[in-house]
Amino acid sequence: MVRFLSQLKPVNLKDKVCLLRLDFNTDDNWRWLASLPTLKLLTAHCQAVVILSHKGRPAGREKRLSLKRYAKDISRAIKKPVSFAPHFRFPEIKKIIQSSPKKSVFLLENLRFLKEEGDNSSALAKRLATLGDLYINDAFAVSHRANASISAITKFLPSFAGFELEAEIKNLSRVIKKPQKPLVVILGGLKIEDKLRVVKNLHRTASAFLIGGALNTAIIHKISGIGKLVLSEDFKYEKGAIRDIGPKSIKKFGKEILTARTIIWNGPAGDITKPKFTAGTKAIARAVTANLKSFKIVGGGETVAFLKKLKLDKKFDFVSTGGGAMLDFLAGKKLPGLEALKINKR
Ligand code: 3PG
Repeated sequence: MVRFLSQLKPVNLKDKVCLLRLDFNTDDNWRWLASLPTLKLLTAHCQAVVILSHKGRPAGREKRLSLKRYAKDISRAIKKPVSFAPHFRFPEIKKIIQSSPKKSVFLLENLRFLKEEGDNSSALAKRLATLGDLYINDAFAVSHRANASISAITKFLPSFAGFELEAEIKNLSRVIKKPQKPLVVILGGLKIEDKLRVVKNLHRTASAFLIGGALNTAIIHKISGIGKLVLSEDFKYEKGAIRDIGPKSIKKFGKEILTARTIIWNGPAGDITKPKFTAGTKAIARAVTANLKSFKIVGGGETVAFLKKLKLDKKFDFVSTGGGAMLDFLAGKKLPGLEALKINKR
């Protein structure tokens, strides 16, 4: 059982320096803004809040991947000053935290500038833990990574899932374990191996898997004997590559979507970076959101960003902040970040 921040009372946070793991790894701010309720609660009650995060996959300290610019964005969202620590001299940072007024907020630099973060190093986790009294993970999107600020850190501090992570666990568990049927799973985009694992894990529960775009070819080659695969049958091509699904596939998918009572969607049907290849994904988005009788979940950075542009994201019951993390969860894999938050895990 994962321990949740929602089980704590404000008094449990008083006088505590809380380390909060967020995910800044999207071009706009939507992913970490999903954690705003957690951030607001902690900044209202904790002695201080120290935000930990990453961006990209830097090879050393790449200036373009610095988290500095987020200090302003966070400050605007919580209406409080946020101090950015541009280095990893933890004893120095600790002194600053201790001598700052109550309820101060700090943001550390991109932890992936340190190789130990990716190595899930206990030594780094221990140094990070010296900064605070409690650890809250509200970064579902990176919880499939065994990183020091996601996994190892929980060995050194009482650790809890924030509100956003709790919502991810509850909503994704609901559609895997007790979906109202028929369950229709729509898969597109890249990350082919991850999506194959989702098909394998959910094929007993789902009524249909609608397979969009380039994923078709990979799925046909790698899976046989799963009768519930609804493949696209006509495509738009460019330079010999599949770029979008065509009208027959849209119609075929629409029929399945119409009767669904639970819908899970991850990955666009085409190359939505180009407006001329967005018709399939748009049609799916409209069909899904028109089905008012279904419980609808969507995830994957590109798909969610596209839905936001269409202003259709709010019509989903739950928008997952996870891309790879959502797929791993749906594939039934154990996520290191969630395992680390479980009681009696050791
Ligand atoms: C994401 O954007 O999916 C997460 O932040 C994880 O990033 P990663 O794939 O570079 O580990």
